[in-house]
Amino acid sequence: MFGHRIRNRLAVAPMTRVSASGDGFATDRMKDYYREYARGGFAIVITEGVYTDEDASQGYDRQPGIANRRQANSWAPIATAISDHGSLAIMQLMHAGALSQRQEAARIIAPSAVPPLGEMMPAYGGSDPYRLPSAMTKTDLAQVRKGFVTAARRARDAGFHGVEIHAANGYLLDQFITEYTNRRDDEYGGPVSARIRYPAEIVAAVRDSSPDDFVVGVRVSEAKVNDFDHRWGGKSEAETTFAALAEAGASYIHVAGEGRGFRESSTDKREPLTTMARRMTGLPVIANGGLHDPDLADDVIRDEHADLIAIGRAALATPDWPRRIANGERIVPFENGMISPSASIQNTDAWFARQRAHGVHGDR
Ligand SMILES: Cc1cc2nc3c(=O)[nH]c(=O)nc-3n(C[C@H](O)[C@H](O)[C@H](O)COP(=O)(O)O)c2cc1C
Repeated sequence: MFGHRIRNRLAVAPMTRVSASGDGFATDRMKDYYREYARGGFAIVITEGVYTDEDASQGYDRQPGIANRRQANSWAPIATAISDHGSLAIMQLMHAGALSQRQEAARIIAPSAVPPLGEMMPAYGGSDPYRLPSAMTKTDLAQVRKGFVTAARRARDAGFHGVEIHAANGYLLDQFITEYTNRRDDEYGGPVSARIRYPAEIVAAVRDSSPDDFVVGVRVSEAKVNDFDHRWGGKSEAETTFAALAEAGASYIHVAGEGRGFRESSTDKREPLTTMARRMTGLPVIANGGLHDPDLADDVIRDEHADLIAIGRAALATPDWPRRIANGERIVPFENGMISPSASIQNTDAWFARQRAHGVHGDR
């Protein structure tokens, strides 16, 4: 798929783990963490959202970046650990935009100066209302675009097989797609054909600056981390969005079910969004959201609603989920306690240590 041989149709969904060093370097513990997914049988390991530039892209403290050479170097052992176990290593590139939780950030930027809904997420170390962002100037647009291109080149140099452009879940590029966060009156605002322009430009810029065998996927979603109920404005909006991303040269489309399962993730009751994305674009499509039930996942693939399945929370709880399912072994169900009080790897380790102390889940 997308020019690479893959061993099955399972991907790890991107999951922020706020476990980097204070300077945004990936750590040894993160290497072991990602290696477990590859060793556990996932064909594709998509990393957490990694910030792209040193200006305003970072969303959280302890989020890893690829905004400078040293941060990029810290990712190389992770790319190697994933590849050595036979999986494709894809880095998710993320600009937080208005959803930055960093109170000390010099600037927070967004398509328009619209206060975000909701409050910062404790799982990623925030507790206050979001700050009011400033509207991006033409210079900002060019700089952020350059940030994505440079970040993708660094990811490639670090040994990743590709990148996934994060245009989902309410972050910067999704803020362009979404009507109520994009009030621009230039060519990037207005109807969805204009609102998708900037995310599509980013995909095209990264595609154009990468070799053909480098994967450039894109992730979209209707719902957002700060607005679970949000839906696109009907079938034609969805079609316009998918067509523009395909036209831009995306290698795959990943439809995220932030807060919702696959079955509900459709603007059109008769056709799931992933099915529409496949029909519109002919590209490989990744479905995500509540697909940890193997029978349901099988149905989605067999009925041609998607080409690949991304597993989030169930993978966090059972990193060797594919291997255990194949062998009929026991699965550890996901519990919120695994990512409390924050989503750090350390808190998950502590959760398992507590369970072991009580004589359960001792096999991890
Ligand atoms: C701890 C955690 C961190 C997440 N971080 C990201 C992220 O960095 N980027 C992203 O696109 N989605 C992120 N998500 C959303 C997941 O990729 C996925 O869409 C969601 O968990 C639903 O899939 P699931 O039902 O398989 O868990 C995160 C989810 C969790 C639970």
